Amino acid sequence: MIQCAIVPVAGYGTRLLPATKSQPKEMLPVARKPIVQYVVEELVANSVQRILFVTGRNKSSIENHFDQDPELTRLLNAGSRQELIEELKFEDLQAQFYYTRQRFQRGLGDAVLCGDSFAGERPFVVALGDSILGLHANSRSVARMAEVFEARRASCIIAVEEVPREEVSHYGIVRPAGGAGEDCFRVADVVEKPSPEAAPGNLAIAGRYIFSPLVFDMIRRVKPDARGEIQLTDAIRGLCEEGKRVLALRLPPGEKRYDIGNFPSYFEAFVEFALADPVHGPGFRRTLERLLGEPSGLS
Ligand code: G1P
Repeated sequence: MIQCAIVPVAGYGTRLLPATKSQPKEMLPVARKPIVQYVVEELVANSVQRILFVTGRNKSSIENHFDQDPELTRLLNAGSRQELIEELKFEDLQAQFYYTRQRFQRGLGDAVLCGDSFAGERPFVVALGDSILGLHANSRSVARMAEVFEARRASCIIAVEEVPREEVSHYGIVRPAGGAGEDCFRVADVVEKPSPEAAPGNLAIAGRYIFSPLVFDMIRRVKPDARGEIQLTDAIRGLCEEGKRVLALRLPPGEKRYDIGNFPSYFEAFVEFALADPVHGPGFRRTLERLLGEPSGLS
């Protein structure tokens, strides 16, 4: 099992301004929980025990969120608010948290490189802090990726999903080495945010990766892109070029990747998670139906 994960959370979240002016986008709530809590719960459910957050300025609320808050617990205990104490149970998650700062915004590859000494000689997961896998983060994909990674002695495995052609320019896009008919296939190349015309397909990197530590050397060799950023995708491309075994695993049917990097997908994720809320979902559904039925409503 792969026990370490690096969770990059240093980005400015500019596509979500003004919501992200002074709070991390990873702390925006999707229904009941902040995005990053879903990510951590997913990782822990997939046997990850040590999590390194690569943070930046304005990100201290992430540290606070995963810390115990004895005063709040005392207050809730004193008021016998048992149901609310339940909501803080995630503070007991069986994971160790580590934090480091990416001092300059030099891209995702550079952020991952900040975890070099944390990962050491072992393979590790990279889970993007703004992507939730599966409704309410119900996903076993990272554990499956770890099994395949080990069984096939890969250097890298990437979770992928199909996206509409017009959206390929938002993602890293993989070019399969042979067919991409199977769930798991070898990758010949990856391109970061290609235009629809230049894209080698529509299979997008879906925010979860496992790497052998040799990726760190490759990241150090990557040249900055036109915006001065070191792209993780370019390091994966380097692994492909050197003949290393780079694999892709499709997310299973029914397991969506919720990309909270822009408003349309954030709104969609919020509504979908709220509709599936065991307590408030049914009432919220009625509210939505009413709003949609109103002449000046959402329809
Ligand atoms: C990053 C990666 C991209 C990947 C995407 C998934 O882009 O660079 O390859 O497909 O995450 O969310 P970003 O969303 O940080 O621009």
